[in-house]
Amino acid sequence: MEESIYGKQLPELEKVKTHLMDEIDSVRNRMQAETGIDPVEHCLARIKSEDSMREKCRRKGFPETTESALTKIYDAVGIRVVCAFINDVYAIRDHLATLSDVEIIEEKDYIRHAKPNGYRSYHMILRVNDSDSGGAVYAEIQLRTISQDTWAALEHQLRYKQNISGNTELIAEELKRCADELASTDISMQTLRDTINSGGNCKTSSVQSI
Ligand code: GTP
Ligand code: MG
Repeated sequence: MEESIYGKQLPELEKVKTHLMDEIDSVRNRMQAETGIDPVEHCLARIKSEDSMREKCRRKGFPETTESALTKIYDAVGIRVVCAFINDVYAIRDHLATLSDVEIIEEKDYIRHAKPNGYRSYHMILRVNDSDSGGAVYAEIQLRTISQDTWAALEHQLRYKQNISGNTELIAEELKRCADELASTDISMQTLRDTINSGGNCKTSSVQSI
């Protein structure tokens, strides 16, 4: 049998995945204790499958080796955090940024700066240092709202669906319009929650310039 592209590092990847999930759980618990509300709607963690990792190495022009999988590709460990409200996305991001064993390698705020197709999410590439082994593992965290997650799921389905019948340009335009409408609703929902929490009126929003 062919050896795993992750070599002997699979347990190390699992350890980092669990560690990051534990950290996310701890901020969820803390915020729930403070506000009575869990900021996270759901959270998924995965180790990239053997096939997808090999495919990604090929696509990026890297040899299919353990070294590529662990040091050239940054999403062997992937976590998706889905929140009901935009401000909670940033609260989870801020918590991850405080962890002493974690370095932020890259951040992309596709919420404030949506992709041209309408995709929105907050992406972080983290380097998690293991003080026991002296090693490090990269992880990709995607943080998004429920609306953003719903949109991404549909867009992903359409992209991988063969032989889409109908005008693909029109479909892309409509998808973009949906993304923008959902983004506008996310801001309104955040404003509503802020209003309910402060007992004030509906005129101001804590979410600006999105
Ligand atoms: P990678 O080489 O895949 O890491 O690409 P990149 O560094 O340009 O990645 P980016 O941070 O833009 O996106 C990484 C991941 O975000 C993808 O693997 C998807 O899971 C998700 N993603 C990014 N753009 C889109 C999009 O337009 N639609 C959907 N559905 N998901 C997206
Ligand atoms: Mg990437």
